Amino acid sequence: MLSYLHSYHAGNFADVLKHASLTHTLHYLNQKPAPYFYMDTHSGPGLYTLAAEESQKNCEYKNGIEPLWQARSLPDPLHAYREVIKSCNALEGDPSQLSLYPGSPWIGSYLCREQDRITLCELHPRESQTLIKNFKGDRRIKMFSKDGFQTAIAAMPPKERRGLVLIDPPYEIKSDYDRVVEVLKACHKRFATGTYAVWYPVVNRHTIDRMLADIKATGIRNIQVFELGLETDTSGRGMTSSGMIFINPPWTLWKAMEESLPFLAKQLGGKKGVYKMTQLVAE
Ligand SMILES: C[S@@+](CC[C@H](N)C(=O)[O-])C[C@H]1O[C@@H](n2cnc3c(N)ncnc32)[C@H](O)[C@@H]1O
Repeated sequence: MLSYLHSYHAGNFADVLKHASLTHTLHYLNQKPAPYFYMDTHSGPGLYTLAAEESQKNCEYKNGIEPLWQARSLPDPLHAYREVIKSCNALEGDPSQLSLYPGSPWIGSYLCREQDRITLCELHPRESQTLIKNFKGDRRIKMFSKDGFQTAIAAMPPKERRGLVLIDPPYEIKSDYDRVVEVLKACHKRFATGTYAVWYPVVNRHTIDRMLADIKATGIRNIQVFELGLETDTSGRGMTSSGMIFINPPWTLWKAMEESLPFLAKQLGGKKGVYKMTQLVAE
């Protein structure tokens, strides 16, 4: 039984890290005209209204997209992400008002081009229905109300031989940590040159250390890890940090993160904000 609903968390500090790095990666893929495949294994509904009851419950976007949105100036690599948010809000008529927040499917559909192909998976029946409603009619997109891990493996290798797989499970089921490792191993075996981006929450540091050690033990090379937190994870107060694991990242991503993360840690977390960058496995 799935109970996680991303609308309670849309636009929070974890989304900022995830979606800023996703935006950078899709822009990088767009530099070559050859088509690519974008797979989003855990899509959610794709678009969020920040005034909705669910968002308003804990107002998580107030420690996430809102302070970034209000910043007078941004490091260069974050401009593209803010442009995406502006374009999304133009749907409501006023791109300068932050009222909508785009999920990863919206960012994918906005940045992918006519020649690219998109697959979205969402298992939760209500979220899946909303996803289908939001993206129906876009001929580039295939949507599945199926398990994203299995669907990703079945989709590899993509016929384009270029692409990005975003893996963003809610980890409400503990086995998600192991399934991430299994899916990376299986997908990488079939499509070793693809880019893989995995989001993870830091609720228990030991669990993350183990997952990263398991990924390292697969023998996959060229892995970078980026973390952004509102405070250090010794506070024992739920998710204070989250991270992104990149396999075969764009070569430009490290520098973009080096410029963005110190700014984001301060702008979103104030004095307590933290960040981390690690080359987990060399190229
Ligand atoms: C963190 S949210 C996704 C947010 C989205 N990727 C974004 O960035 O906008 C995780 C989603 O995965 C869905 N989900 C959980 N288990 C799944 C599975 N095995 N396959 C596909 N979707 C799943 C949940 O219902 C939830 O909507």
